[in-house]
Order: sequence, then C-alpha cells, then structure tokens
Amino acid sequence: MVQKLVFIVALVAFCIVSIVNGKAVNVLKEHNVVQCPNATQAVNLLCTKDLSESGKIFQHIKEYIDCPATGVNTKPITCIQVINQMGDDGGDASIVTGGVGYTSVEIELISQTSKGLDYHIDVYTE
Ligand SMILES: *[C@@H]1O[C@H](CO)[C@@H](O)[C@H](O)[C@H]1NC(C)=O
Repeated sequence: MVQKLVFIVALVAFCIVSIVNGKAVNVLKEHNVVQCPNATQAVNLLCTKDLSESGKIFQHIKEYIDCPATGVNTKPITCIQVINQMGDDGGDASIVTGGVGYTSVEIELISQTSKGLDYHIDVYTE
C-alpha cells in the first residue's frame, strides 16, 4: 500500500517536471534564427535554400539542414538567416552544431503538431 502511494507520488512529480520542462523549452523556441552580428561581413552566399513541407496529422515534422550541404567550406560563417514564411503556424528553428564563426552549421526545423514547414534559409561567409 505504501509502495503504491510512493509510486503514484513519484509518477505525478515526474509528470509535473515534464510539463514544466516542456514549457521552459517552448519559451526558448523561436520561429526564426537570425545571427548576423556584422552584416558588412556577409559577403559570399554559402548556402541558400527554400524548404516547404505540408503537415502530417498529429505529427511534428523534423528537418535538419546542413550547410555546406556537400563538400568543405574553409571560411568562417558570418551570417545565418532562417526565416519562417508561415506566420504563427510556422515551426521552430534552432542551430544544432556550428554557427557564426564556424565553417559549417546544422539547423534543426521542427513543425508544430499537424502543421507544415516553410522556410527560407541563407548562410553567408566573409
Ligand atoms: C564590421 O566588419 C567590417 C568589415 O570587416 C569592419 O570594417 C567593421 O569594423 C566591423 N564592424 C564592427 C562593429 O565590428
């Protein structure tokens, strides 16, 4: 009896922590990623991509964009623009690895439940 009670209390505590964590993560999520500390250094377009996908019912779509998509880049990235084209229904974008100052970047795009993704992405080097 005591064991069952402990189990239930632990389960409820776990759920509350999960919900709080979920909210904390959502607050940090943004539709767009714009990291362009000095626009005059955004000279060469390393990658440009339009990505558009329709939603899948009750699912989150996840896409990973690698820049450069192929080959090796040797110049530091100076500017990253990941722009949602879907307004409030749009997904969340974040940088997974690399970024400004690195020679590559990996961008993660996650749709809202049942919603699609529509992004324009530009990455520049010096
Ligand atoms: C921005 O980059 C340019 C060109 O490299 C440089 O001349 C300028 O000082 C930079 N500005 C800032 C605020 O760092």
